[in-house]
Amino acid sequence: MSEAQTRRVQDQFGGSAAAYVTSPLHAAGEDLDRLLAWGAARRGDRVLDVATGGGHTALAFAGITRRVVAYDLTEPMLRAARGHLQARGAANVGFVAGDAGALPFRDGSFDVVTCRTAAHHFADVGAALRQIHRVLRPGGALLLQDILGHDDSEASAFILEVEKRRDPSHVRSYRTVEWKAFLRASGLTVMEEFAIYKVRQWEEWTGRMRMTPEARLALEAFVRRAPERCRAAFDFKLTANAVLSFTDRQVLLRADRD
Ligand SMILES: C[S@@+](CC[C@H](N)C(=O)[O-])C[C@H]1O[C@@H](n2cnc3c(N)ncnc32)[C@H](O)[C@@H]1O
Repeated sequence: MSEAQTRRVQDQFGGSAAAYVTSPLHAAGEDLDRLLAWGAARRGDRVLDVATGGGHTALAFAGITRRVVAYDLTEPMLRAARGHLQARGAANVGFVAGDAGALPFRDGSFDVVTCRTAAHHFADVGAALRQIHRVLRPGGALLLQDILGHDDSEASAFILEVEKRRDPSHVRSYRTVEWKAFLRASGLTVMEEFAIYKVRQWEEWTGRMRMTPEARLALEAFVRRAPERCRAAFDFKLTANAVLSFTDRQVLLRADRD
């Protein structure tokens, strides 16, 4: 990954680690339940959680598998995840720092790889998927969840600007058709797919990334100035003085290695 993008990710997440551990949107949800159900059906022993953040997915999988490796680019995030999982009594989780595009594991060493709410930060999704394919054993599965890209180009450009102003390490969210092309190119076959909606509470969402009051006001003005159809595409809820929430879609994919 480019040094600039690595720095952006580490700057953004290094200071927000505690907020990701306590984030209710990350701690639970229909998306995590679905990944876990897919994982339970695989009965894999060895799980790699790529871009573990506060460790919520690693923790959930620690309850159904023998060994989990929680992997992340941001060391303070990994330390926060370790503290979180130790406090929850998860003794079967190891922690490794590094980039999704350069996994320091042997070929075929995992039955399942999870990657939740993270790939939109990867500078090179194709490189990360090739690495995931390499470390999965034949017959192993990638369980992926991420923000779904919007089909309408104007709505897509609008939400990208909102995301980038809140978090400069946001690269892009991909549409299902793009995900399928990436996965196919990396040698993984999509076996199951699912989509859900997630409501973002504006105050919590902007606060988690430590936006300054000025930057937040400027972002709110940007949202108000945007065409109504862009706001409607994400169900933005506004009052006269405040932005309350918006809703985006999440894609979930199970893709197997032949
Ligand atoms: C929103 S958090 C992930 C949430 C977590 N997966 C969960 O289920 O709660 C995004 C994480 O991606 C990590 N990250 C971003 N780019 C990465 C990369 N190229 N390689 C590894 N981790 C990365 C960040 O450091 C951050 O901790």
